[in-house]
Order: sequence, then structure tokens, then C-alpha cells
Amino acid sequence: MSTSLTPSPVAVILAAGLGTRMKSETVKVLHRVAGRPLVFWPVELARAVGVRRIVAVLGHQIDAVRAALDARYGAGAIGVAEQREPRGTGHALLQALPALADEPGEARVVVLSGDVPLLTQATVQKLLACEGPVAVVTMRPAEPRGYGRMVRDAAGNLRKIVEEKDATPEVRALREVNAGIYAFRLDFLREHLGSLRADNAQGELYLTDLIARAAEQHGDVATVEASAQEVAGANDRVDLSRLDALARQLINERWMREGVTMVAPESVCIEADVQGIGRDCELGPGVQLRGSTRLGARVKVDVGCVITDSTIEDAAFLKPYSVITESRIGARAQIGPFAHCRPGSDLSEDVHMGNFVETKKARLGPGAKANHLAYLGDAEIGAKVNVGAGTITCNYDGKNKFVTTIEDGAFIGSDTQLVAPVRVGKGAYVGAGTTVTKDVPAGALAVSRAPQQNIEGWAEKKAKKDAANKK
Ligand code: UD1
Ligand code: CA
Repeated sequence: MSTSLTPSPVAVILAAGLGTRMKSETVKVLHRVAGRPLVFWPVELARAVGVRRIVAVLGHQIDAVRAALDARYGAGAIGVAEQREPRGTGHALLQALPALADEPGEARVVVLSGDVPLLTQATVQKLLACEGPVAVVTMRPAEPRGYGRMVRDAAGNLRKIVEEKDATPEVRALREVNAGIYAFRLDFLREHLGSLRADNAQGELYLTDLIARAAEQHGDVATVEASAQEVAGANDRVDLSRLDALARQLINERWMREGVTMVAPESVCIEADVQGIGRDCELGPGVQLRGSTRLGARVKVDVGCVITDSTIEDAAFLKPYSVITESRIGARAQIGPFAHCRPGSDLSEDVHMGNFVETKKARLGPGAKANHLAYLGDAEIGAKVNVGAGTITCNYDGKNKFVTTIEDGAFIGSDTQLVAPVRVGKGAYVGAGTTVTKDVPAGALAVSRAPQQNIEGWAEKKAKKDAANKK
């Protein structure tokens, strides 16, 4: 197929570096910013700008990084090129060329860095709008140390990039530096990448040497300036924490502009992959929304709640310090304070679940209530069931788990143990303190208490006896 249209771009993510300064067992690009591994940020960005294909150049802990990419994007969705030894950025990009062998020469290749998470779509789009075989992102950080310097001629045209270790004092004094983000025409890379030479202070193949080649052939090389904040990279855990704080601030501001109220937003952590927060939600101090959590509209999440991979429907109210993981909370439900929904909890609309109630793999029907101190695990609980204080589903015999079923409208008295597998029928009552070991028919009352005896005058007799013994 031939076409006169410029094909949509492809992206290469350089992520084979060692990341020694992280001092970690975990490869740098799997460390997280706003809950999302560093290497996913450029992937998300590349997808957002509409690239056709993404190749990640990996080396250190390649299997772990590939597994993370496959788990998130599907096996093989992100191409992987291996760089066996970190011989420089030029060598890294060279490893990606075979994976792009079937791409047309006029294709644009966006080169991103695996450790620069906050780069924006706007900057990449400006880069792609530039003319010529190469365009590069620059910045003017307060402290240019460590970066390649942009060397321009008297007319202001970019001539070359000089790495700090190769730079004269005059060049080191330049404030404009290379952010390490580029757009190349693929045919330019095919022509020049293979002939880079490691004749420099670090003995590496410098990707940046391609700038001088382009300048020689085409005169000027286009640049796009970004803020130092936008193109900041993570080299150690201090950088990482700064990027994390910045990412969270940007995320919070985005949600506030979408109509979410936050009290003390500097303490609210919303991870990058949170799916949605509806209008007029209110998030209190210290709230954490993690993973793929989604909140409907008008949800109120009070101080200190931690919600992970869960769906909270419209107008639910999560009172302070509730912890919800892989669960669903229905519309208008009220949870907490100090409630704990473990994985597989499915609370229907209008459920009330109070303090120190724990659920796990439990479905509660519409309007069901469990207001105080209960454990409901492996349970099917119908509509409008009332679960009294201190109720426990005994779901585990030390080997296997069993289900407790409580049908619609049943009333479970306080301090009941339900020894599963067991069923309480529709509208049945269980008296306080009962150990339920047999099914309770619909409409019945189950009680297993020993009958109470009252011994009249016992306290007075005891007091007399005690006094006699003292003498
Ligand atoms: C590079 C630039 C420098 C720029 C800086 C911005 C070169 C020669 N220099 O510096 O001008 O100011 O980025 O941060 O390109 N990588 C590999 N394999 C390697 C080396 C690096 O995959 O062999 C990856 C790293 O994982 C990282 C990126 O390339 O994602 C940049 O590497 P890094 O070592 O941080 O950059 P420098 O070479 O120091
Ligand atoms: Ca380096």
C-alpha cells in the first residue's frame, strides 16, 4: 500500500539504563509515581498522542519490565528490543531499529525516556509539528549540571549537543540543556545511527551526536522548550518523591477542575490510573484513591479512607478511616467509620455498614444493615436484612470455606455465630447469642441460649460469707 499521507508516528522508549542511584533491587522504571510504574507514563503518553506502535528498549531486569508491560497492555502489545549492555543512548535507540524494519522511511519516531513521567501531550505534539529530520526538547533548569548543553551559533541555530563530561568551561556555562526527548524521521536514523562512534569521555554511543549531523546536513535543528518540571527525570528516590508530589498535585488539580471538592488536597492521594470521580464528590484529608477505583457523582469520602480497585456509586458516604479493596459500594450506601470491605464485597444500594464491620466475598442486598462489630465472609445477605452487633459468619473450618446465606428481611440478633454452610430463611429471626448450626426455615425463630436462672438474694448471702471468712 502506498500513500502520500505522512504515516502516524511510532514511539521508542529508552529504558535500559541501570538506575544505580535508586539503590534498589527493583529496576528503576518499575518504581512508581502516583501509583503508576515510571515506564507506563511514556507508554500512556505515546498512546494519547496516537502513535501506531511502541517499542521499549530494555536491558536491566528485562523480564520483569516486559512482564509488567504485558500484564498491563496485553502480551506483545508493547514491542521490546533488548540492549544487552548499557553502551549509551545512541546504542539503545539502534537496538530498536530492527523492530521498526517494516515502517516507511518517512515515519516519525518519537523517542521518550522511561524515567521522565510528566512530559505532556502538548510538548510531544509541538515536537511532531517541527520540520526537518530531527527535533529535540530543551529546558533551562536552575541547575544544568549533568545535562547535555545546547550549542547554538551566532544566528541562534542549534549546531550540536555537548555532554557535560566532554564540555569546555564555556560550554558548561550554557543554561539551555537537552531534555532527552526527540522526534526523528526514521530514514535519518537508518542512515546515521549505525555510524555513531564512542570517541568521547564516557566511551558511549551518544544519541546526541545525531544533532550535529542533522545540523551539518540541514542547517538548523528544531527545538521545543519545556519547563524543567515537565521533563524532570527520576535518578534517585529524592527525585522520585518530588515527581510523585508533583504528579499528585497535577492529578488533584485536574479532578478539582472537573468538579470534585477536596479538603486539604495536599494530603489527598489519587493515583494516576483512577478511572473516574463524579461531579460534586467530596474527598476529606488523607483520602487515598488507588488502582482503577471509580467514584460516581456526589460520593462523600471522609478523612483517611483508603479505596483500592473499587467502584463507589452515586451519593454513597464513606465515613472516616474505612478501607475498601476490590469491592463495590452501591448508591447511597453508608459505610464506616472504621469499616473494612475486603475483596469481593458487593454492597447494594442503601446498605448501612457501621464501625468495625468487616466483609469479604459478601453480597449485601438493598437496604441491609450491619451497624456494629461484625465479620461477614463468604456470605449472601438479602435485602433489608438486619445483622446485629457482634455477628460472625464462621466460614472456615481450618481447611475449607463455606457460604452463609441470609434471605431477605431476616433479623439476626446480636452476638450470633452462623456456622457455615448454613441458611437463614426469608423473614426468620435469630435470637441474640445464638449459635446457628442448622438451617432456619423462613419465618421461624432460632434460639440456642441456655435458659436463664435468677437466684434471689444471692449477693447479700455472698457478702456475709466473705465477711465471715475474713475473721
Ligand atoms: C542523556 C543525554 C543528555 C541529556 C540527558 C537528559 C545522551 C548522550 N545524553 O544523558 O544530553 O541532557 O539524557 O536526561 O544521550 N538509556 C538506555 N541505554 C543506555 C543509556 C541510557 O536505555 O545505554 C536510557 C536510560 O534508561 C534513560 C535514557 O536512556 O531512560 C537517558 O539515559 P541517561 O543515562 O539518564 O542519560 P545521559 O546519557 O546521562
Ligand atoms: Ca549515561
